[in-house]
Formats: sequence, structure tokens, C-alpha cells
Amino acid sequence: MIEPSTMRAKMYDAYLEFFEVAERKRRWNIFNDVPWDLLDRSQNSERKARCIETYCAEEFYLPDYTAGGVELSRQMFGAAWFQACWSYEESKHGLVFREYLTRSGMRSESQFAEFEQAIFASSWKLPFTTRRQMVCYGALQEAATFLAYKAQKDVAVRDGDKVLEAIFSFVSRDEAAHAGFYRAMARIELDADRAGTIADLALVVSSFQMPGEGLIPDYQERLRDSGAGISNRHFLQHALFPTLKLLGTTRAELKAALHPTILTPTEPVPLTAPR
Ligand SMILES: [Fe+2]
Ligand SMILES: [Fe+2]
Repeated sequence: MIEPSTMRAKMYDAYLEFFEVAERKRRWNIFNDVPWDLLDRSQNSERKARCIETYCAEEFYLPDYTAGGVELSRQMFGAAWFQACWSYEESKHGLVFREYLTRSGMRSESQFAEFEQAIFASSWKLPFTTRRQMVCYGALQEAATFLAYKAQKDVAVRDGDKVLEAIFSFVSRDEAAHAGFYRAMARIELDADRAGTIADLALVVSSFQMPGEGLIPDYQERLRDSGAGISNRHFLQHALFPTLKLLGTTRAELKAALHPTILTPTEPVPLTAPR
């Protein structure tokens, strides 16, 4: 166990390190850094449009993510300031996808207005009730999102699509950094209260799903048809298991903390899509 003041100091240090790297090495600019002049409309397709639109939809619940996150973290400086920084970075994701869809001509402004209306008609609710549980959730969700965007970057490289390559390089790098910070916060929580944090992590893992689930119309179908989703196996091998390893825990420990069930590779996580 550690003192609350020690925990505050650790959170502050972790945030300062995150922010310094973000400011010095990771900042990118939608207007200058994306090679918009290389947009090639001959590469347009409805499948591609639906893929980007699905990501866009998931990023568009930002006001709800921010409201929920700030409410839970406002009494802890490092966590609250991270939320503020996180919101700025995430705001660029939805925006760059929106700009891509309209600049490429795959969606018109009026189509987008309709789309926005449909998205904002429902609101995202926090899937868990405490800051620590949401830290566990963030570590997994950001890792899953990184995997999805990284996969799209690889597709863009393969297809010689310079615009999407740049976009997915920037957004996937942001998501990797977010996953890293959530993991750092989870390690601090583990030091403060290992049993409690393990119980929270077990709960989150056992009921994990992406934010768009139940919110975005035809979510599963969109993920499947547009190629936006990642497989459960990919999630387990490249997001869940590495996260558990980095946190110094195992599926067996989670299983012991959470009766009756916990995930195994043959019982796939109900993950279906990235944000
Ligand atoms: Fe994002
Ligand atoms: Fe993120």
C-alpha cells in the first residue's frame, strides 16, 4: 500500500513524462502534416468510406468520453490533466477522419450532417463506475484501438495510399501513447492496492467491449463488411496478454479474483471493434 500523497506524486510524474513526450515528439498537425494534395479519388470505395466512417463515429462520442472521464478524475491532478490532453488528441482523430471523408468526396457535407445527427442522438455512458476501473478499461480499449489503426496503416502502405498512411500513422501513434499512459496509471494503482486493482481488472476484462457497441447502428455488420474490426484472437494476443504481462499479472490471478469465469484463448473476449 502507498500513501495517497505518494500516489498523487506518482500520477503527476507519470503525466509530466507523458506530456513532455507528446509535446516534444508526438504532436502533429491536421493541416500541415497530412499530404492532402495526394488524395487520389480513383482509390475511393464504399468499403473504405464505411471503414473510416465507423472509426469516425466511434471518435465522435468524444464529448461523452470527456465528460465521464473528467468527472471521475477531477480530484487527481495527473489523471485529470491527462483527460484534458487526451481529449485534445482524440478530438483530432474524429476531425481528421471527417476531413478525409469529405475532402475525398466519399461523403458530402449534407451526408455528414445526417450522419452526425444520428451519432449524437444517443450518448455513451461510462461502462464502469470508478476511476481505477476506467484506468483498466482504458488500457485495453486504447490497445485495441491502436491495433485496429495500425492494421489500417499497413493496408494503406500496401495500397500506396499516402494520405491514409499518414493519417493512420498519426492516430495509431497517439493511441499507443494513450495505452501506455493507462498502463502506467494501472501500475500505480497496483502498487497502491494490488488486490483491489486486480479485482477491477478482472471485472473489466470479463465484460470488455468497445465503446461503439450498442451505440453505432449496425456496428458489428459495419466492422465485418468494411474491414474496420480486429479479430478476438488478435486482440487477445496483442492487446490483452501483453497488457497483463506489463502489469505483472496473469489470467490465473484474474481468474482467482473473479469467480466464476475468466477469459481463455478459446473463450474470446467480446471485443468487436476499435475506437
Ligand atoms: Fe482516437
Ligand atoms: Fe486514444
